[in-house]
Amino acid sequence: MTFNPLEERGIPLDRQLRTWRELDVEPVDPDHADPYTKCRIIAMNGIEIESIMFGHNFTRVCPDLEVKRQLAEVRYIEQQQQKVVNWLLPGSASPLETTISYEQVAVDLTAWVARMEPDPYLTQAYQFGVLEDFDHLYRYANLYELIQHRKAEKIVDGLTEVIPGRPTRFHHRHPADNVREPYDRTTVDPLSRLHALTIMAAEQQTLSFYLNVGPQYMEPIARQLYQEIAMIEEEHVTHYESLVDPGETWWERLVTHEYNECYLYYSFMETESDRRVRAIWELHLNMELEHLRLACDLMRRNDGREPEEVLAPELPNVLTFEPNKAYLRELLDTQIDLTTLGTGYVQEAHERFERMQEALMGGEDPVSDQVVTRHVEQFGEDYRVETEGPHPDPTLRRREASHR
Ligand SMILES: [Fe+2]
Ligand SMILES: [Fe+2]
Ligand SMILES: [Fe+2]
Ligand SMILES: [Fe+2]
Repeated sequence: MTFNPLEERGIPLDRQLRTWRELDVEPVDPDHADPYTKCRIIAMNGIEIESIMFGHNFTRVCPDLEVKRQLAEVRYIEQQQQKVVNWLLPGSASPLETTISYEQVAVDLTAWVARMEPDPYLTQAYQFGVLEDFDHLYRYANLYELIQHRKAEKIVDGLTEVIPGRPTRFHHRHPADNVREPYDRTTVDPLSRLHALTIMAAEQQTLSFYLNVGPQYMEPIARQLYQEIAMIEEEHVTHYESLVDPGETWWERLVTHEYNECYLYYSFMETESDRRVRAIWELHLNMELEHLRLACDLMRRNDGREPEEVLAPELPNVLTFEPNKAYLRELLDTQIDLTTLGTGYVQEAHERFERMQEALMGGEDPVSDQVVTRHVEQFGEDYRVETEGPHPDPTLRRREASHR
């Protein structure tokens, strides 16, 4: 079965506007929703926010009033889509519970992308990043039991393991070492463009979310953990955005954004377990098909090129939220001690890394370590969801109070 977004007809733009009643969606059930339904909601919210912010950035440098008007019309629909998608999240979930789902997204989305990415340099970038968000999940899960006396297994539901990744303290690199080499827009596989855009959007939204909810907590340890991990999400945004060729034209980027939205809504429609949410993915896909058609027209008119030159000849494999446990354990086994130097990766801590670490830590343990220490003190051991046996790295096996 082939679905070609360039050949399908969507809903005409003037019929995409929604009323208050249509915007007022019922959220998913916080206790019984499929964890991956929540992941799809969180991922898609990030994609819609990226489409809106991209539209704003484009319009700020666009001198053509007609184009600005069209961008504004489409963006109005994108922002309604964003409201519907994000408002599917239940208000009864605490920000920390939603945070745990955000990190589950980062883990299983990035791992899937790493597995499917055709370019080895880009694959390495995703493999490197995923081990860090994997560790964030573990740190937040320990915080969750400490301050809310609840267990993260209720949220991740055994689909994603909660065990140490590359320890968070080692994510604090010199900013110059967060900049990667971009792909080459003239030779890149179209799938790689979609991957880079998707992960960049997800990380950017994770960063914004932590920046906003972090200071809302009363407990100092929670405030500090959000502060520390938000600093790393900032690094992740730098890492992933630098993969995108800065030479892409605005038209090319616009078309890629709309195509990616079609790709993801189609993927989620195909894999969604909740019928009501599935209907939203399907409706939004039909809206995006029209956004894509309009973007393609703009590209032909202004870039003098055919969109087919930058887009995939057919829709890639359906992007799927699924467990990546074995894959992650293999990465834990082989890449846990990597850091970056310039645009590459090295196994040893280098001088610039160590200087940065010293300057930031000021002789104290980061809160990402303290949260685990506190958990061990209070509960006798750290919090984990270890479904596939002991940790592959012997030094990261279970810490118990007795042999601390
Ligand atoms: Fe959209
Ligand atoms: Fe993270
Ligand atoms: Fe991240
Ligand atoms: Fe769109």
